[in-house]
Amino acid sequence: MAKPAVLVTGGLGYIGSHACVALAEAGYRPVIVDNLGNAKASVLERIRELTQSDISFHRADVRERQALGALLARERVQAVLHFAGWKAVGESVEKPVMYYENNVGGTIALLAAMAEHGVRRLVFSSSATVYGEPERLPLTEDHPLRPVNPYAKNKLVIEHILADCAVADAGFHYAALRYFNPIGAHPSARLGEDPRGVPNNLLPYVAQVAVGRRPSLRVWGRDYATPDGTGVRDYIHVMDLAQGHVAALAYLERRARSITANLGTGRGYSVLEVVSAFERASGKSIPLEFHPRRAGDVAQSYADASFAARELGWRARLGLEAMCRDAWRWQSGNPEGYPD
Ligand SMILES: NC(=O)c1ccc[n+]([C@@H]2O[C@H](COP(=O)([O-])OP(=O)(O)OC[C@H]3O[C@@H](n4cnc5c(N)ncnc54)[C@H](O)[C@@H]3O)[C@@H](O)[C@H]2O)c1
Repeated sequence: MAKPAVLVTGGLGYIGSHACVALAEAGYRPVIVDNLGNAKASVLERIRELTQSDISFHRADVRERQALGALLARERVQAVLHFAGWKAVGESVEKPVMYYENNVGGTIALLAAMAEHGVRRLVFSSSATVYGEPERLPLTEDHPLRPVNPYAKNKLVIEHILADCAVADAGFHYAALRYFNPIGAHPSARLGEDPRGVPNNLLPYVAQVAVGRRPSLRVWGRDYATPDGTGVRDYIHVMDLAQGHVAALAYLERRARSITANLGTGRGYSVLEVVSAFERASGKSIPLEFHPRRAGDVAQSYADASFAARELGWRARLGLEAMCRDAWRWQSGNPEGYPD
């Protein structure tokens, strides 16, 4: 029997590339669409190498509805994992229209193409940023939603659109997965996170300091009400996150209903804990520079991960040590990231 085809938008990006490998291992046939806006073409060769298969790739923009529709029909797509979008919070504040246009506009074009071609299962990359400042911890899915920047608002708008589509079409089912902080890399060191320019996130920054690309890590705030004064976040290994998508897809097939779930470990680590774990994993020391708190940052954020465990039968298995080990393997094996 032919393997079910799953369209992976943004499949050459950090999380999408790992998800393609997980999909192939689970017996699906990933079909990638990416406009290379934030990815390098060489990622495709790595995915093909790891999956030992000639994964199909289409360089296209998800906003091109007609092209997308033709692809859904030609590849006989059964379901979609939708990763494509811009993801830099700071940039979204500076360029809100560009963010709404790509993230919300891209999702609308995709949903229209899916409706036209009878594709009725979608897994969407949402984000824990939809919660805004935590009123209580851990964050459960019913926590109030008060996103504080355009990027997070994009995610919430898309969640609303998906809910409306599910009401309008009883046969359409989606999983909105609210990721916490994905880090780490494929254990082979062939796939990993390769941000352009100065990394926005802690782990790639730490990894670039360790490999000698940057002199020191800037730590924003050491007077938060946390055990060591630095900010606490819920980090999740990208391999666990990728598995979460396979579990969500299986849920949509099995249960034929929609779901919105946190994907995190349920455990928070401070900046200093992450730095120590990374120093142990890499054998390198990470010089620190302390700065005042940054506007918009919260003291702590971590998930209640029990809903995904109960409903999807999925939980994160890899801890901080494995996250740092794999991030370091990736960074030291690919100091300049993917080749051009
Ligand atoms: N990495 C995180 O910390 C994080 C956390 C929560 C949610 N997310 C969400 O998960 C998704 C994937 O994140 P990532 O870290 O892999 O980001 P990424 O930038 O590495 O991957 C996104 C991919 O989408 C592609 N893309 C962007 N716009 C496109 C378009 N219009 N058409 C086709 N391709 C397009 C980019 O070229 C890129 O390869 C994003 O939607 C992001 O918002 C990420």
